[in-house]
Amino acid sequence: VKIGVLGTGGVGQALAGKLAEQGHDVVVGTRDPKATLAKADKDGMGNAPYKDWAAAHPRVALKTYREAAAHGEIVVNATSGHASLEALRLAGEAALGGKVLLDIANPLDFSKGMPPSLSVSNTDSLGEQIQKAFPAAKVVKTLNTCNAVLMVNPGALAGGDHTMFVCGNDRAAKDRTTELLKGFGWKHIIDLGDITNARGTEMLLPIWIRLMGTLQTAMFNFKIVK
Ligand SMILES: NC(=O)c1ccc[n+]([C@@H]2O[C@H](COP(=O)([O-])OP(=O)(O)OC[C@H]3O[C@@H](n4cnc5c(N)ncnc54)[C@H](OP(=O)(O)O)[C@@H]3O)[C@@H](O)[C@H]2O)c1
Repeated sequence: VKIGVLGTGGVGQALAGKLAEQGHDVVVGTRDPKATLAKADKDGMGNAPYKDWAAAHPRVALKTYREAAAHGEIVVNATSGHASLEALRLAGEAALGGKVLLDIANPLDFSKGMPPSLSVSNTDSLGEQIQKAFPAAKVVKTLNTCNAVLMVNPGALAGGDHTMFVCGNDRAAKDRTTELLKGFGWKHIIDLGDITNARGTEMLLPIWIRLMGTLQTAMFNFKIVK
């Protein structure tokens, strides 16, 4: 499958790497490919510069947001939450229309330091804002509630015995997403319903961040038991 992964950070790299390894035809999107490949320093999360990752993944091309989105039958939003709407505008409505848009972004606001707050919550969510701004895209919110390593390798923790959520308005888009998630190794996937449920999964972030501080690791996840 042709997949466009918008975002060059740890999440974009994890998703693009796994999808390419599984044989998908992946193009990663960024604002300015030349500038991104010229970066020599680690990013804010301590990740190696993108060019190091690119050297280890020669089959994954780096193009503009627009080109990567146009390439994909499925598009992944792995951009910084504060910039996702802008990144998707750069990709353009035409390149997103009719496609599954897997939204992994969290609307974290670091402007007042740590821990971050949410820039949208309670009665709205980033997932909904994206769906409203791009009505022809089939937005599925998922994978935003665990770290990038676990997203594509849930078996690395507790034998994969923990939970992933999906929500979105389009049944077929959620089925396609669930198939991808199962391919990554997810066994417990809960469909919460329409895209308004992104309010719930995005509002898990304040507790997720505090757990990371308390547990001193990002390798943990939620497990829902009844
Ligand atoms: N890290 C995790 O483990 C994790 C877990 C769950 C969810 N998430 C969510 O996943 C998303 C990606 O996280 P990340 O840690 O991989 O990287 P990130 O640093 O949050 O985002 C990096 C991406 O955002 C883009 N970006 C930043 N400012 C922009 C702007 N003004 N306009 C357009 N694009 C802009 C960058 O573009 P360039 O390529 O052009 O620099 C880059 O591709 C975030 O929303 C995050 O909250 C992360």
